[in-house]
Amino acid sequence: MADRFKRRIAIRNGPYQPMSRRHRRNLIYALTVGLLLGLLYLCNPPIDPLAVSFLEHQDYMNDRSGMDKFVAKDSFDWRKAPFHNTPTEYKPLPAGMPKTLPRIQHKFTEESKSRKAQRERYRVAVRNEFVRNWQSYKTWAWTKDELMPISATGIDPFGGWGATLVDSLDSLWIMGLKDDFYEAVAAVAEINFGESDMVNISVFETTIRYLGGLLSAYDLSHEKVLLDKAIQLGEMLYRAFDTTNRMPLDRLALDLAKKSTGLGFTADGSICLAGIGSLTMEFVRLAQITQNAKYYDAVSRVTDFFDRAQNTTRIPGLFPTWVNAYKQDLSYDRSFTLGAMADSAYEYFPKTFALLGGLEPVYEKLYKDSAAMVDKHMLFRPMLPEGEPGEDLLFCGDVHASDPDSISLDAEMQHLTCFVGGYFALAGRLFQNEHHVDLGAKLTEGCIYAYRSMPTGIMPEILNIVPCKSRSSCPWNQTMYEEHVLNRASRYDGDFKEVMEELKLPKGFTSIRDKRYLLRPEAIESVFIMYRITGNEEYLEHAWDMFTSIQKYSTTRYGNGQVLDVLDASGYQIPEDKMESFWLAETLKYFYLIFSPPDMISLDDWVLNTEAHPFRRPKWVRVQSQGAH
Ligand SMILES: *[C@@H]1O[C@H](CO)[C@@H](O)[C@H](O)[C@H]1NC(C)=O
Ligand SMILES: *[C@@H]1O[C@H](CO)[C@@H](O)[C@H](O)[C@H]1NC(C)=O
Ligand SMILES: *[C@@H]1O[C@H](CO)[C@@H](O)[C@H](O)[C@H]1NC(C)=O
Repeated sequence: MADRFKRRIAIRNGPYQPMSRRHRRNLIYALTVGLLLGLLYLCNPPIDPLAVSFLEHQDYMNDRSGMDKFVAKDSFDWRKAPFHNTPTEYKPLPAGMPKTLPRIQHKFTEESKSRKAQRERYRVAVRNEFVRNWQSYKTWAWTKDELMPISATGIDPFGGWGATLVDSLDSLWIMGLKDDFYEAVAAVAEINFGESDMVNISVFETTIRYLGGLLSAYDLSHEKVLLDKAIQLGEMLYRAFDTTNRMPLDRLALDLAKKSTGLGFTADGSICLAGIGSLTMEFVRLAQITQNAKYYDAVSRVTDFFDRAQNTTRIPGLFPTWVNAYKQDLSYDRSFTLGAMADSAYEYFPKTFALLGGLEPVYEKLYKDSAAMVDKHMLFRPMLPEGEPGEDLLFCGDVHASDPDSISLDAEMQHLTCFVGGYFALAGRLFQNEHHVDLGAKLTEGCIYAYRSMPTGIMPEILNIVPCKSRSSCPWNQTMYEEHVLNRASRYDGDFKEVMEELKLPKGFTSIRDKRYLLRPEAIESVFIMYRITGNEEYLEHAWDMFTSIQKYSTTRYGNGQVLDVLDASGYQIPEDKMESFWLAETLKYFYLIFSPPDMISLDDWVLNTEAHPFRRPKWVRVQSQGAH
């Protein structure tokens, strides 16, 4: 090379003489190489140096360099707390070789260099946002439950054990932030789950955020102290099942649980469906890892109750929002939703089926009989202005029913409900139901549409729209639209134009009942699952649009705050001083994963709990019948 280079200089600087054939050949060679390099650069500009450092971290799953340096600090031992309602028999985990379940992920082929560079740039942007938040959390709110992203301080609304710390562990690991991960693990080892400023804690939130976070971080890193902590916490949460009929409590009073005498607790007369029905995945995973049957037994009693009572509800097949756990009765509540208070109970039926390796058919039955009713009564096509792609869109509303013949739909869509797209698609793959995969795609389009339609590009917490009578045809009807807008605004004889001016509704929406965006993950969750299932690259662009909009309106000096009005794109909005732990645990993790190579947390190897914590799916591992201890 050096030789040739010298020769070229000579050509340029020497006296003119016709080029020899060899010189010409060398020149053409040099020009071609230069041109190719230039083209390569144009198609594939260099990416952020940060990206390079963590792209080399692809074997992140196997890196155990910090392993087992940590020891759990002495903590109150919940195993010593009394337990009164000990079952005489424990139901063991279903035994046998896990089934080979149908493939979930699309068979991705090698992507082009330019596609890859684009995707990596998106991924780095998400990671940078996470790192910015994490630095703030470390500086201003270390070991607190939440960072306040404007006042730069911490608050403790979740028991004070570091909800954000524990909830973010697996995000740190997945993003290749190894030093931060081990720094966090060292802090987690110090948590004392026996002490809290709170009189009682939410069993549901503590399970999905803390227990889910610990189990997932353990599944990824195999760092033993995380399992020790999961068991300490699991023992505390197990006390919520110390009721006379073994139905879990909504809130666990910590001091009472430590000292309680006599009969233990009494189950709640009214508990929301998600509160009682979405502890399953975490307790199943804890039972699988510890081979301790009592954790599985605890949640399987709720499953048995759901199974027995599924056809006794006001809409047989569907589960109502509120449950009488004391009487084990599902028949009194008339309201049904896949949004707040109910969502994750539905979500956990197919996911628990996968987590148990397909060995427990009841979860398939619970899914199939309820999903058919969701499809029939709750999914609707919205009436959209001309030119909008109505036939490919679905929303999921709430229904009220005193009996199956008087079902009324409330065409209201919550951001929380946006998980249903991914839910139907994932279950559609698991149970080989193409109709459900198709429903999943249309529901996901519905949420993408809702994001796109708002001036800020962000979907609100709750919106309303006109439901079509039929999914096949739905012409725009201005009269009907105006009626709906006035009704929703309780201005029955009002002037439509005036009301519209006041409410600033994007056309097609009849009301935005809650204009906030709380940094929630459900829309990107479904977009992520659809991308992994179909391989359709359009989802990456939708995800990027969502990410940039959210970043634009939620960024604060110290993190990201809740957006108060998604209709206000003026740029003068100041976010709320609140950042829930799910922003780092879920929302940014889903954004990161969709822009990662598709084998990172493959849905064929992992199943994510409702807080986006991946649990390892069993494969080729024999689950044995085991005792309780
Ligand atoms: C939980 O604690 C609060 C006070 O912090 C109290 O008002 C409430 O009644 C308690 N609930 C239960 C179920 O113990
Ligand atoms: C519940 O109702 C559904 C639909 O009516 C029916 O297919 C199913 O067999 C019923 N299940 C039980 C356990 O009765
Ligand atoms: C449009 O809606 C109005 C009010 O709901 C109804 O009276 C009318 O028949 C509808 N028009 C068409 C063409 O369906």
